[in-house]
Amino acid sequence: MSNLLVFKAALTAAWVFMRPFAHRCTPLLVLLFISCMAQGKRVAVLGASGGIGQPMSLLLKLDPNVSSLSLFDIQGSPGVAADIGHCCTQGTVEGFSGSDQLDKALAGADLVIIPAGVPRKPGMTRDDLFNTNASIVKQLVEGCARACPEAHIGIISNPVNSTVPIAAETLKAAGVYNPKRLFGITTLDVVRANKFVADSQGWDPKDVEVTVVGGHAGKTILPLLSRVKDVEWDHDTLEKLYNRIQFGGDEVVQAKDGAGSATLSMAYAGARFANSLLRAMNGEAGVTECAFVESSVTEAPFFSTRIELTAEGVGKIHEVGQLSEWEQANFDEMLPVLQE
Ligand SMILES: NC(=O)c1ccc[n+]([C@@H]2O[C@H](COP(=O)([O-])OP(=O)(O)OC[C@H]3O[C@@H](n4cnc5c(N)ncnc54)[C@H](O)[C@@H]3O)[C@@H](O)[C@H]2O)c1
Repeated sequence: MSNLLVFKAALTAAWVFMRPFAHRCTPLLVLLFISCMAQGKRVAVLGASGGIGQPMSLLLKLDPNVSSLSLFDIQGSPGVAADIGHCCTQGTVEGFSGSDQLDKALAGADLVIIPAGVPRKPGMTRDDLFNTNASIVKQLVEGCARACPEAHIGIISNPVNSTVPIAAETLKAAGVYNPKRLFGITTLDVVRANKFVADSQGWDPKDVEVTVVGGHAGKTILPLLSRVKDVEWDHDTLEKLYNRIQFGGDEVVQAKDGAGSATLSMAYAGARFANSLLRAMNGEAGVTECAFVESSVTEAPFFSTRIELTAEGVGKIHEVGQLSEWEQANFDEMLPVLQE
């Protein structure tokens, strides 16, 4: 019997037994209900053997919200699954390799994270990846539409500004598009902003949460540093920080010198986003992240702002709000790019 059925049976039995005393037991019943709903989820990673896929899968194996991890790639995933599966944390891990295994890998998934595709080399922009990665994402999302049409889908493959709309069109064509359940994962921009701001002020990064709006490429990444509390920015520091957050990806691509783009920090960011969404899916209130989702807060069809996560996925989408003069100029410049 699946975990879900066991939980439902337990809940029903408890209700039948306690019903006569319900008026005295309401708080207990509420607690019982919440703990029954807080189950581990089934997570699939597509592109699991890659530079991001491997460390992110490892971090997901450590997440108590994950009961089963399904690792898919065109090569190498059974080995990654066997390796990660030996970690003595709860939950199962299974590897699936080759396109004919895709639907099997996705069956029953609650959340699918997609880091499949080619990474950037020095001199390439994220847009240069479009042709290759767009067709990979399309093919994988078609698999989601067939095998787990209700799953939440988080896209990491670049260029996120284009792969997310492509995923939406693919799901629409299959008749299963739910805008609340499709996310472009831009968490790395927030992670970088938090770290760089904290370092500039000598703070602990856990005390900083920068809202980053827009998209996920160069100038379309707009960190709202004017909102950071308790700091008097001087112009030079601020200018350097905006630039470093917007082009932090290039820093890693150049330092890796041809060996790929950000993988470990992206794995951390992807696992953080998954953890936030899984907690919200389990009923935790007040969980927020910035993510690139279908949105009407600007004229761009997809836009990243802070969103409240719920069991259904995207909850309230926050407005962009008040911007500084510099942020407003950057915002005006990026909006036409995101509308293309
Ligand atoms: N969203 C972000 O913030 C962010 C940050 C860094 C990198 N990225 C992007 O993430 C992607 C992956 O980067 P990486 O460094 O892990 O690359 P990588 O080359 O190390 O790994 C990609 C993996 O995808 C697999 N793959 C290719 N085609 C596939 C298919 N059809 N089905 C399943 N798997 C397939 C490959 O076999 C490989 O294991 C790139 O597009 C990169 O630009 C996004």
